[in-house]
Amino acid sequence: MINILLARYLEFFHAIPVKVFNYNEYRRKEYGKVSNFFFDNSNNESMEKREKVYALVSAEVSEFMKTHANGIAILDSTNATFKRRSRLVDIIHSTGAKMMFIEVQNNDAASIDEQVQKIIRGSPDYDGEPFDAALHDFQQKLEKYKQVYETIDSGKYPIESTYNYIKCDLQRGHFIIHNVRGYLQQKIAHFVMNLRTEPHIFYLSRHGQSEYNEAGRIGGDSGLSKHGVIYARKLAEFVEKVITKEPMASPDTANNTQQAASDSKRTDSATDAGHAASLQERPARLWTSTMRRTKETAQFIHKSVMSIPDKFNPELIHEWMQMRPRAWHHLDELFAGSCDGMTYEEIEEQFPEEFARRNEDKLAYRYPRGESYLDVIARLEPMIIEMERHREPLLIIGHQGILRIIYAFYMGLSRAESPYVSIPLNTVIECKPGAFVCEVKSHVLYKIPLDDDGQNEPKASHGHSAHAHPICSHLAGTPIPPPITIPAAICEKDIASHSSESAISPHRTGSSGGSGRYRTNSLPPRTEEEVNNPHSH
Ligand code: F6P
Repeated sequence: MINILLARYLEFFHAIPVKVFNYNEYRRKEYGKVSNFFFDNSNNESMEKREKVYALVSAEVSEFMKTHANGIAILDSTNATFKRRSRLVDIIHSTGAKMMFIEVQNNDAASIDEQVQKIIRGSPDYDGEPFDAALHDFQQKLEKYKQVYETIDSGKYPIESTYNYIKCDLQRGHFIIHNVRGYLQQKIAHFVMNLRTEPHIFYLSRHGQSEYNEAGRIGGDSGLSKHGVIYARKLAEFVEKVITKEPMASPDTANNTQQAASDSKRTDSATDAGHAASLQERPARLWTSTMRRTKETAQFIHKSVMSIPDKFNPELIHEWMQMRPRAWHHLDELFAGSCDGMTYEEIEEQFPEEFARRNEDKLAYRYPRGESYLDVIARLEPMIIEMERHREPLLIIGHQGILRIIYAFYMGLSRAESPYVSIPLNTVIECKPGAFVCEVKSHVLYKIPLDDDGQNEPKASHGHSAHAHPICSHLAGTPIPPPITIPAAICEKDIASHSSESAISPHRTGSSGGSGRYRTNSLPPRTEEEVNNPHSH
């Protein structure tokens, strides 16, 4: 799990070529499925085979490092002994690359049990095997590793104190960061330190339709339209019924703390959980941008105080403000600078060159005095760390450009694909990142009659659409991907028709408009009454 998330994080937010080398995959290619006897260090025959696989994978890691000067190879293997590690260090250092170890420790029986179950269910080594036999075999394998395991830098081999390493026990939140230097190594340490082991669920929603959406204008800081207010109410209901609810703890866990119960059930969507009577309140979080339209969308969400027993000491009670809104500047919409507040038609008409430039390279194109998607990716990196850090279900009420990036990161899409993801209005996208995939479900809460939507971006006048368009300049040869909609199998069919995807906009230097980076909110959110009667005050 750490490997995959770390690789995605480094590729997506730091544009680094990353490759994960999984020892077991190489081993399976050479010898197929093997039983625990293969991992017995006293078995000479299998030791020879293991060494052979090890040489193979190390050679490929070295080759990757030689051919990718700025790359990062992640070697996913046990490296449980000093002998293994020291040989690896020699091989990698001979390529001129730096080496860093991440040793993951876990002494929590329940969590180990959960991990083992996941491995047995997911590993090709146990494909088609009866569960109990697979469990027995895996436990034997673990025992064999325990017999030879030497923690890194135990004091026995002084050379190891010169290695760069992180030792982490995510369950206890305990970390040793040793000799970790430089920007990237520290970024990696920071990322790993904020990971959790429990799966977490989050919900993405654009703000309800804004007055600018209705008028076909981009950006701005308008309030909600009437349709937007209706959506805000429906979203509050959804929060009440789904986001803040989870299945009741079963009788055998009834004596445990509420926190422990909610941890164990957190992966289950309350939507699937049967009737309301069997649900209980769970602590949940709410984030918005600092812009009026997201705050107004959050206005009907019920806030209340909950008492939560401490995970380790149930006598200690924490106060939790349910769905306390937290407004982040990082989540403000991509700032269109001098084009802020214009319609796409106006931009194309007044600034055709800019319009064309954006169509050619939507990812890197920066609005004059505004931002590009690359800028937005950079400012969303801390948000991803924050999202990883939390365990409670999280609702983010954001903007199209912002949610595209968050969605793309979790879905494993590339940076180049991210500006084309379709994030429709009036829809909550439920995401459950797992070890290998992120499960996604769309909840369409409201349907605006199409004429009223105001979200249909104009087709570029030169007739190009995102489908047919040339290339991103920094990805020469890679066609611009078609717009990405939430996977059809789990997406209600008509969602895409409400989304606004096409080759988009831009503008030109020197026109009127904002300065600086993304904007801050200057006005407080309006109440529903103010939205419906804009002149009442
Ligand atoms: O149209 C709604 C909106 O959120 C605008 O405020 C923003 O400029 C735009 O979407 C971002 O989409 P794109 O990058 O495709 O223009």
